[in-house]
Amino acid sequence: MPQHPILLITGANGQLGRCFEALSHQYLPWTFVLANTQALDITNRRAVRRFFEKHRPNWCLNCAAYTAVDRAESEPEQAQRVNALGPRHLAETCAQMGCALIHFSTDYVYHGRHYLPIREDAPTRPRSVYARTKLAGDRAVLRHCPEKGMIIRTSWLYSPYGHNFAHTIARLGRERSELRVVFDQIGTPTYAPHLAEAVLSIIERVHTQNAPVNVAGIWHYSNEGVCSWYDFAQTIADLKQLACRITPIRSEEYPTAAVRPPFSVLDKAKIKTAFAIEIPHWRRGAEQWAMQTT
Ligand SMILES: NC(=O)c1ccc[n+]([C@@H]2O[C@H](COP(=O)([O-])OP(=O)(O)OC[C@H]3O[C@@H](n4cnc5c(N)ncnc54)[C@H](OP(=O)(O)O)[C@@H]3O)[C@@H](O)[C@H]2O)c1
Repeated sequence: MPQHPILLITGANGQLGRCFEALSHQYLPWTFVLANTQALDITNRRAVRRFFEKHRPNWCLNCAAYTAVDRAESEPEQAQRVNALGPRHLAETCAQMGCALIHFSTDYVYHGRHYLPIREDAPTRPRSVYARTKLAGDRAVLRHCPEKGMIIRTSWLYSPYGHNFAHTIARLGRERSELRVVFDQIGTPTYAPHLAEAVLSIIERVHTQNAPVNVAGIWHYSNEGVCSWYDFAQTIADLKQLACRITPIRSEEYPTAAVRPPFSVLDKAKIKTAFAIEIPHWRRGAEQWAMQTT
C-alpha cells in the first residue's frame, strides 16, 4: 500500500458519494477520484477497466446503485444491471489490479422472522427486486474479489443530499396537516455522513497498521438504537418544529409495490470490535441533519 491512498468513489453524485466528497478535504493528501454516472457507468465492463487503468485506485468505494425500491419492481433488468452486474465488474477489476473494494448493501436482504439485532451470518431472504439484486451484487463481490472485497450492509440511509425519507417528511410536513407513517417496520436510520466517516477511519487504520488488516467479507453498519418509520418521522417533525400531526399506521394501510422487512435492526458488534469504531445514536444523526438542512 502506498503512503497516501487513491480512493475511487463510484456513484459520486448520490447521497453517500457526496458525503465522501464532503469529507475529502479532511484527508489531504489522499486522492479522491469522484466518478459520477457520466464519468463511469459501472455496468460498462470495458469502461470500468479503462477507468481503473487510468486512475490506479487502491480503494474503490462503490456508492453506485439502483435505489428506487418500488420502481425496481417494474424495472428489474435495470436494477439487476446496476446492483449486480456493476459490482461484478468492479470486483473482477479490483481483484485483477490489487485494489480493495468497499461495496455498500442493504438491510433489506434480511426478511426473516427476526426480533433480535441481525448478525452478518444470518440467513438472507430478499423479498423485493431491489433486495434480490443487491444480494446478487454482494455475492458477486464475495466471489470475484474474495480477498479484498468488503461488503457493508447499512439501513435507512439519509443525508443532507438527494432524496430521502427525512427530506420527504420535512417537505410534506409543511404542506399537510397530517402524515400517516408506518409503525410496524422496525430498523435504524443511518446518517450517511456517519457511515462515510467510519469507512474513512477504517481505511486510515488499514494504512497506518503494520500488520495486514483483513477487511474482506460482510459487515454491518447503521447508527445505534432502534425505531419505527413513525418514530423517525415524529423526530424529524419535532426537530423541524412542524405543526403537522404524525399518525402511526400499519403497512397494510399504506400499500407499496415492493414489500419491506418488518424488522431489520443490524447488529454492529463485528465492525465496532474489529476497527474500534464508536457509532452515534440515530437521534444524534437526526439532530445533525436538522441543523444542516433548511
Ligand atoms: N438509501 C437508502 O435508504 C439505503 C439503505 C440501505 C442501503 N443503501 C445502499 O447504500 C448505497 C448508497 O445509497 P445512496 O442512498 O447514496 O444511493 P443514491 O443516492 O441513490 O445514489 C446512487 C448513485 O448511483 C448512481 N448510479 C446509478 N446507476 C449507475 C451506474 N450504472 N453507474 C454509476 N453510477 C450509477 C446514481 O446516479 P443517477 O442519479 O445519475 O442515476 C446515484 O448518483 C447503495 O448501495 C444502497 O443500495 C441505501
